[in-house]
Amino acid sequence: MTDSQTDPRQRDEPLTLVVMGVSGVGKSSVAAELVAATGWVFAEGDEFHTQANRDKMAAGHPLDDDDRWPWLRALAEWIGEWEAAGRGAVVTCSALKRAYRDLLCDGHPSVRFVHLTASDELIAERIGARKDHYMPPSLLESQLRTLEPLGADEPGVAVDTSGDQAAVARSALEALDLDVPEQTHAATTTAPTPPPRPTGDR
Ligand SMILES: Nc1ncnc2c1ncn2[C@@H]1O[C@H](COP(=O)(O)OP(=O)(O)OP(=O)(O)O)[C@@H](O)[C@H]1O
Ligand SMILES: [Mg+2]
Repeated sequence: MTDSQTDPRQRDEPLTLVVMGVSGVGKSSVAAELVAATGWVFAEGDEFHTQANRDKMAAGHPLDDDDRWPWLRALAEWIGEWEAAGRGAVVTCSALKRAYRDLLCDGHPSVRFVHLTASDELIAERIGARKDHYMPPSLLESQLRTLEPLGADEPGVAVDTSGDQAAVARSALEALDLDVPEQTHAATTTAPTPPPRPTGDR
């Protein structure tokens, strides 16, 4: 660790890492590595979707913004609850548009986006190799069209995901000026009492 880097578990102010990017780029995989490295609380952004949104996506239809605002507000609420509790957190969320990210950041200074990037070909390959999580190719195309990459004026970092998942997580932590001593990886993950979790009827 260099002098400028801070062990995330020693920070006075909690951070919330929003792991973002198109479907299949590796958000869940890299988020798991980030949680193992930091011991922070974790949520899958998809868990905050309404049942109507889940059904729509399962039928292969992209969500529109009217579908997304309640989902993003529920996520922002979760971020705010852990921020107020003083706990670091990691959450996956595609957060493809700037307006979605602005909503998540609003009033939440702890938020840092980790924008995962890869070539379109690599993402399609990863989706194709995934056995347990079917996704029609049309949904990826729609996501790639919608994506507004993380801007230089937004809080966070963009990280290329062509390396393995642990290396990607390490690169993200380094880019955020965070570092975790190697020997303590995965040793500090705790199971805190979470604030109210999303339910299927939100
Ligand atoms: N860095 C990586 N190297 C190799 N394979 C990876 C990497 N990251 C993810 N994968 C694999 O690619 C596939 C997609 O990853 P993952 O499910 O984490 O993506 P996701 O962004 O969470 O997708 P979704 O938005 O659909 O939930 C998985 O099979 C995963 O094992
Ligand atoms: Mg995922």
